[in-house]
Amino acid sequence: MEKIRLGFIGIGDRGTGLLRLALRIEGFQVTALCDIHPPHAERARDLCAKYQRGSTPRVFTEGDTAYRRLLECDDVDAVIIATPWSCHTPQALDAMNSGKHAFVEVPAAITVEDCWRLVETAEASQRHCMMMENVCYGEQEMMALNMCRQGVFGELLHGEGAYIHDLRYQMKDGPHGTGGWRTAHHARRNGNFYPTHGLGPIAQYMNINRGDRFDYLVSMSSPARGRAEYARKNLPEGHPFRDLKYVCGDINNSLIKTSSGRSILVQYDTTTPRPYSRINLIQGTEGMYRSFPQEQLTLGTHKKQNLRHIRKQYQHPLWHKRGPLARKLGGHGGMDALMLWRIAYCLRHGEPLDQDVYDAASWSAICPLSEASVAARSKPIDIPDFTRGQWKTMKPLAIAT
Ligand SMILES: NC(=O)c1ccc[n+]([C@@H]2O[C@H](COP(=O)([O-])OP(=O)(O)OC[C@H]3O[C@@H](n4cnc5c(N)ncnc54)[C@H](O)[C@@H]3O)[C@@H](O)[C@H]2O)c1
Repeated sequence: MEKIRLGFIGIGDRGTGLLRLALRIEGFQVTALCDIHPPHAERARDLCAKYQRGSTPRVFTEGDTAYRRLLECDDVDAVIIATPWSCHTPQALDAMNSGKHAFVEVPAAITVEDCWRLVETAEASQRHCMMMENVCYGEQEMMALNMCRQGVFGELLHGEGAYIHDLRYQMKDGPHGTGGWRTAHHARRNGNFYPTHGLGPIAQYMNINRGDRFDYLVSMSSPARGRAEYARKNLPEGHPFRDLKYVCGDINNSLIKTSSGRSILVQYDTTTPRPYSRINLIQGTEGMYRSFPQEQLTLGTHKKQNLRHIRKQYQHPLWHKRGPLARKLGGHGGMDALMLWRIAYCLRHGEPLDQDVYDAASWSAICPLSEASVAARSKPIDIPDFTRGQWKTMKPLAIAT
């Protein structure tokens, strides 16, 4: 592809952030926009007018299925889907069935059946289905990936990832804000709703689906207290979230065992007053690295390492080359810009994307499988092999340069 003609479906907080970046990255042209909330669509159209002079995208706002009219447009090659979680899979399936590549926000699916649907539809339509796990493009995460590939940590044994982010304030959002739809999940489900920011990078370090795979998990949730307490103290009488019965444990811990015997801890907590963390810990026989709560590295002997020196030595080649541009464009410290830059690069050069539909399915499946384990007294639950055996022969991700 010379130019990737993009349609945006869902242009709230996240969609707008991605749109701002796409409009400034070479290789993208935004040709269509869809959001059921007209002010969001108008804001996006204004952004396009500012950054993309001479070509105005078409806009679709008429109800929940308006996106299907966007999918009928001949001048759309790929769509970016940044809608609420329950919309991701149906919209990605329709996109692929309409011949468009689907780039979908995290998690790509919230049921195991939907994970399979994504895999089967991507295979049948031969369209890309990439879940845009931006954290895999973080500077520290890519450095750790580089170190894993160079064998610095020896044989990998264990990883830890998390999404710990106090988001209770979002419960005050109205119907057109993130909390307006996210909060309701906490009253319906109990498990890890958002595993992929922590898990995606660890999966890449460990070559999951490319030499190893997730085998089974066990999951346990703490009591659910924080949301009800927050609602009582902060929401007015009559607010739709004030008297909801919240069932999702404030803190969820899931432990994944891989086929080669490695272990991965994934935590989820958007409800307690804790400092932000993705942990990002990788432990091998020769050393360990961790990003949160503060960067730490141990190699061989337990001597303290000079992190400044290590950062220089092992900076990922992509960050070395594209870091200045990524930082300038921004988006979570540049990871979002680098992700979009890399998507454009791969599509324009006919190279495989860094995350495929099997990654989307196996990383997202942790949401419903954690719920199943929590509901069954933390019983071990098998994780499907979405590659149907191909993980044994699939080559590890190359270090992109
Ligand atoms: N990767 C990241 O760092 C990151 C960060 C934030 C959010 N997200 C993900 O992005 C997605 C969106 O989150 P958000 O915070 O932007 O939420 P949001 O509520 O701000 O935006 C969602 C938008 O989708 C629109 N929408 C709802 N149903 C639609 C439909 N059927 N068709 C078209 N538009 C529809 C809404 O009107 C809204 O504008 C979520 O999946 C979230 O998990 C990812």
